[in-house]
Amino acid sequence: MRIARAVFFLSLMLLLTTSFMIGADKKKQNSSKSVATLNGYEPKWWKEAVVYQVYPRSFKDSNGDGIGDLPGITEKLDYIKGIGVNVIWLSPHFDSPNADNGYDIRDYRKVMKEFGTMEDFDALLKGVKQRGMRLVLDLVVNHTSDEHRWFVESRKSKDNPYRDYYIWRGAKDGHEPNNWTSFFSGSAWKLDPATNEYYLHLFAEKQPDLNWDNPKVRNEVYDLMKFWLDKGVDGFRMDVIPFISKKPGLPDLPPEYMNRPQYFYTQGPHLHEYLQEMNKHVLSKYDVMTVGEAFGVTLEGTPDLVDERRHELDMIFNFDVVRIGHPGRQWIGWKLPDLKAIYTQQDKALDVHSWNTIFMSNHDNPRVVSAFGDDSPEYRVPSAKLLATMLLTLKGTPFIYQGDELGMTNYPFKSLEDFDDIEIKNAWKELVETKKVTPEEFLAQANKVARDNSRTPIQWDDSANGGFTTSAKPWLAMNPNYREINAKQATGDPDSIYSYFRKMNDLRRSTKAFVYGEYKDLDPANQKVFAYTRTLGKEKYLVVLNFSKDEVSYTLPQGMKAGVLSLSNYSGKEENTGALKLKGWEARIYKM
Ligand code: NOJ
Ligand code: CA
Repeated sequence: MRIARAVFFLSLMLLLTTSFMIGADKKKQNSSKSVATLNGYEPKWWKEAVVYQVYPRSFKDSNGDGIGDLPGITEKLDYIKGIGVNVIWLSPHFDSPNADNGYDIRDYRKVMKEFGTMEDFDALLKGVKQRGMRLVLDLVVNHTSDEHRWFVESRKSKDNPYRDYYIWRGAKDGHEPNNWTSFFSGSAWKLDPATNEYYLHLFAEKQPDLNWDNPKVRNEVYDLMKFWLDKGVDGFRMDVIPFISKKPGLPDLPPEYMNRPQYFYTQGPHLHEYLQEMNKHVLSKYDVMTVGEAFGVTLEGTPDLVDERRHELDMIFNFDVVRIGHPGRQWIGWKLPDLKAIYTQQDKALDVHSWNTIFMSNHDNPRVVSAFGDDSPEYRVPSAKLLATMLLTLKGTPFIYQGDELGMTNYPFKSLEDFDDIEIKNAWKELVETKKVTPEEFLAQANKVARDNSRTPIQWDDSANGGFTTSAKPWLAMNPNYREINAKQATGDPDSIYSYFRKMNDLRRSTKAFVYGEYKDLDPANQKVFAYTRTLGKEKYLVVLNFSKDEVSYTLPQGMKAGVLSLSNYSGKEENTGALKLKGWEARIYKM
């Protein structure tokens, strides 16, 4: 009996060791072989992924209360899968009083009651996995809600054990401790009567900043990350993560940063140390992806966050592209050569050890087709397809924001009452109520740049309220164009933007050159055409995009010939000699 057991264990050990060795060996072979063939990049699933951002409040309401929820998302997973994406980033779904739509978290281990229960979350995660997709959560840990247990304790007294979880200071000469401003208008400090001290909030008053210099705070964050990772989620998008380390002594914003404080708030000395610690304690133990929202990080500073040899984050969101038309609160427009220049700079700034993201919209920015395309009835569809072509063929992991696959547009706001967003409401108080800006000017700008443009609910069909909800009143009004622009139409139409995204994604999935291929802008100064190649070994693709409604006769530079057409956003016969005759907003991909 004993001998039999020993033999059994011995053979088991042998089996395990050999299979482990074979596995390790295989892995080694694979990676050295692929690195050589992937332009020096180490292959990773998240480099090859296409991410779809879900803003749960506006996705699908399953119970008729006017608010999107988790069962609503689960119900629509086949729709998401149908776009051809393989990762979902879920904007915050945690318990929150919703001062900033969930970016103010009251309990990190609970589901927001409007969105459902933990069982609903588990069902969503299961549904995502069953379809071969992955789920990434939003990690919002620069700040919490003022209703979080830690802050409720912290504000009670100066000697409360949680006092040092947040950033408290006494008045300076009868004023706020420094001149820091909040992104939601006014000072970043709020005087709390209970102890007569100020607390720091870089966002709303109801979003006090955590004190990351306190190791207890960091460990709390690592624990809550493990809580979700152990459930099987596949990573995090990290909200304003470069703000977590504050400059010692909290010095005043120098005058040159007053209009761009984000570039100052990212200069804390311990940022990299904390991220490395987080990586060591948590991230390195799981096969996950991380993407930092790096508002205020320069291109030069990017490798310090994402160089794989530093063990911090996998990727960041750089805001140069998404904010090109509105670097501040004003819409100033943008020019194609400037957009192209950013992509070239990004490509040059990152070597094979760093990885980029490609995105042109999210829940904080206007609709992609309104900001970068042409949302007129004539060109909305071709321009949205052109933008999809670009998004999915530039170098970096693409992020698609919900509704962009339908070509949803900005909303025609008419008055302050049409908005929900705290940023707009506070800006109105600061600018219009003080008569610095007229209501008309304010609304004209808000129509271009307000965050609520992209937060109107998904237009599912042409029934009342676009099939988003059975309630008479969705939390934010539907864009009135839902009768023409909706998912029911789009999923049934082979020529829709939705169907085009799927075709583009199919092409991308089968073409490593679009992931790891070398990027080259062929004609940087051209005002209307964006033409670039992606090259991986013998595989070479040419992308030609006409960023205008004009017909353009385009001759490729240096006598280059176009090759075989792989995909285009227009149907019909295509000439193959001489100049390319591009229709308004035409996009073409050629295999060379
Ligand atoms: C960035 C988020 O994307 C935005 O929606 C939020 O208001 C701020 N961070 C504060 O969390
Ligand atoms: Ca609901």
